[in-house]
Amino acid sequence: NKSMKFSHLNLFIQDRIATLKLNRPKALNALNKEMIMELHQAVEFLDENDEVRVVILTGEGEKSFVAGADITEFKDFNKKEGRALSATGHISLFNRISNASKPYIAAINGFALGGGLELAMACHVRIASANAKMGLPESSLGVIPGYGGTQRLIQLIGKGRALEMMFSAKMIDSETAEKYGLVNKICDPEALIMESLKMANSFIKNSGDAQAAIIRVVNSTLEGGQGFDSEIKEFGERFGSAEFAEGTKAFIEKRKPNF
Ligand code: CAA
Repeated sequence: NKSMKFSHLNLFIQDRIATLKLNRPKALNALNKEMIMELHQAVEFLDENDEVRVVILTGEGEKSFVAGADITEFKDFNKKEGRALSATGHISLFNRISNASKPYIAAINGFALGGGLELAMACHVRIASANAKMGLPESSLGVIPGYGGTQRLIQLIGKGRALEMMFSAKMIDSETAEKYGLVNKICDPEALIMESLKMANSFIKNSGDAQAAIIRVVNSTLEGGQGFDSEIKEFGERFGSAEFAEGTKAFIEKRKPNF
């Protein structure tokens, strides 16, 4: 099966490069259950498709890559459901991309927040448009990053900067992200896909088998480990707390939370 139909994703394959575009603009591509499932299916499909050598993951339009996990979907979850949300995301999608058999390039076309930045960080490299904004705002909602962000942000930018981003819940611009090493490159919004294709083509020239092995070896020290398990457990623990209830309620009511 070489063509797949999705409701919130578009998949194009051309010249051995797959472009996977998230398309749920009304919610700024916030990741709901259905999108996670569709992304999981797309990643499985692309992994087994030998014609595809590199995958570019991006969002439709110039406003948002992904504005996080869908807050409306999890605001009423209890601890058990919160923990399951995190664990399922880790297993079915975020670890799956990180451990894929071919390089993933995140082309960050706008907001990459919470689960959105976590998705970009699960990819192997990142290119951001000049207008992109990145952050892990979970603590403003009374929760913590639950899709690998606590571990991957530290690996990419170091503990001090990562903790500042998680404590402040603030967004950084693409220049700061480049300075931090969070993104490999920045470019004008209209050049984003072209730059991503250029990078993809520079990868295709080299051995795909070797690249798959590089991913396995690099991940043998960086991925897995107790940090991810601890994140899932602590993420679940936030659910049912008064501050989580206030944080998510404030978001829905479009006001500042009172912590
Ligand atoms: N979940 C659900 N809906 C979301 C959303 C999210 N993460 N982000 C945006 N939306 C919705 C908004 O509610 C709004 O919907 P309505 O039109 O129905 O009101 C629509 O998308 C457009 O958003 P805004 O009107 O807010 O657009 P803006 O330009 O004023 O602000 C923004 C953009 C700063 C990104 C703002 O939308 C925002 O702060 N979003 C939430 C970011 C966030 O906290 N993400 C982390 C989620 S928690 C998480 O990801 C947990 C985890 O690790 C697993």
